[in-house]
Amino acid sequence: MDFNEVIAKRRTTRQFKNEPVSRETIERIIKAGLTAPSFDHCRKWNFIVLTDPASKSAAIECIELLPCAIKEAATPVAQMIKIAFPRQKSMFEDAPVLVLPLYKRDKRIVNEPVPRTHMDTAEMWCVIENIFLAATDEGLSCAMRIPTEGQPENILAAVGCAEDFILPCMIGIGVPADNAEYPMQKYPALEDCIHCEKW
Ligand SMILES: Cc1cc2nc3c(=O)[nH]c(=O)nc-3n(C[C@H](O)[C@H](O)[C@H](O)COP(=O)(O)O)c2cc1C
Repeated sequence: MDFNEVIAKRRTTRQFKNEPVSRETIERIIKAGLTAPSFDHCRKWNFIVLTDPASKSAAIECIELLPCAIKEAATPVAQMIKIAFPRQKSMFEDAPVLVLPLYKRDKRIVNEPVPRTHMDTAEMWCVIENIFLAATDEGLSCAMRIPTEGQPENILAAVGCAEDFILPCMIGIGVPADNAEYPMQKYPALEDCIHCEKW
């Protein structure tokens, strides 16, 4: 796929077809993640890949369904809430692959001021974006969820992972359903955010 097509096609998907994704494809996608920019070659990255429905169920058991009273969604945010909230669990049940990206905090920067203290988190998110783009390039799409308070511990315990790993998000990967819903987007206008030579 052409690079600009990948950029344009990447969307957050929350409804997937019941079609498996091969191990080779998942490895290619994660390998693309591993080539992301890194902070001081920190790269304390690990990935738990779950495809067995029982393992996925155990990992997502603690995710609660979010209430959503929106009937008519007129704004992009309202549309997103209407589409996303009821699917925070089912999107991972439907996606044939659940990837849990993990990293460890870099002790050298734990007490540094912002933005340096965020470097290890920032590089993990570069990895995650590479994963989204690589999945798109494979004709797949990703769901993502940031676990809420208490959930990372439960999820990591369910998969037998050591506690000092940080789970920044959960990633579901699969073929988008034909009827997958996507909220409208309102992207910032270039002229509103570019400042040439000075503010
Ligand atoms: C930091 C961050 C956190 C997000 N958390 C969630 C989440 O918990 N659940 C979810 O369904 N989508 C989540 N999203 C996806 C956004 O809702 C989505 O990216 C946004 O609506 C734009 O849509 P698009 O990704 O299709 O372009 C998150 C996105 C980002 C960047």
